[in-house]
Amino acid sequence: MKKIIVGNWKLNLNHLEGIAHLQKINYSLSETILNDSNVIVAPSHTSLRSVQTVIDTDNLKIETAAQDVSQFEEGSYTGEISASQLSKLNIKWTIIGHSERRANFHETNEVVNTKLKNLLKNNIQPILCIGEDINQREQNIHVETCIKQVKEALKGIRKENIQKVVVAYEPVWAIGTGDVAKPEHATEIVTEIKRFLTSKSFDLDQFQFIYGGSVDSKNVKNFMLTESIDGFLVGGASLSSDEFIKIIKLTI
Ligand code: PGA
Repeated sequence: MKKIIVGNWKLNLNHLEGIAHLQKINYSLSETILNDSNVIVAPSHTSLRSVQTVIDTDNLKIETAAQDVSQFEEGSYTGEISASQLSKLNIKWTIIGHSERRANFHETNEVVNTKLKNLLKNNIQPILCIGEDINQREQNIHVETCIKQVKEALKGIRKENIQKVVVAYEPVWAIGTGDVAKPEHATEIVTEIKRFLTSKSFDLDQFQFIYGGSVDSKNVKNFMLTESIDGFLVGGASLSSDEFIKIIKLTI
């Protein structure tokens, strides 16, 4: 299965900077690396069209993800962007349930579930972020927290309707803190989620599991030793093209 490396640019780079960043990443990666992996960049909504147009026009192998999508399909929801609008832009992936959205914008599991359904309906692959905060880990409820997030995100979704869901395990205490999780932490969560999915008769081939939280070119190798991780969701380190390219090369 192809490895997935997503660069989450968060609220950084305008569309011109985004295009320049994309081109730098593209020129530094060989055809083989790009064919053998899913390298994905997630710019702000305002840059999506410009970045995707460069990708389509120049036939680049890098793909684009939106950082979020509305839970609504259309209507009087000022400021929102729908899954069908993203699909029309040729966007193939979208991040949902990021802990920054859960914490800062009160995004509940129920909202994440609606977003996931909208994405699947529009043939966009969801990158579903889950992860416990430091209190939940200290109380030893990290496994049940993560399983609850997956369970509620998938509520009401029939397994026939899943093309592929990428589950990004991102412990909140590791995001942007430099306090990277140990590969054993990721393995424990992924193993338990797989057990849960199997118990619900989901086909594990319809899922891929990536890790996110302070990933950089120095710690990425540790994770590659574990079979449970299929790639990375990279925040801060994806803003440096040199660093992001190193991470990609070490992942493949
Ligand atoms: P980070 O962010 O790599 O800066 O910790 C990861 C993420 O939030 O997706």
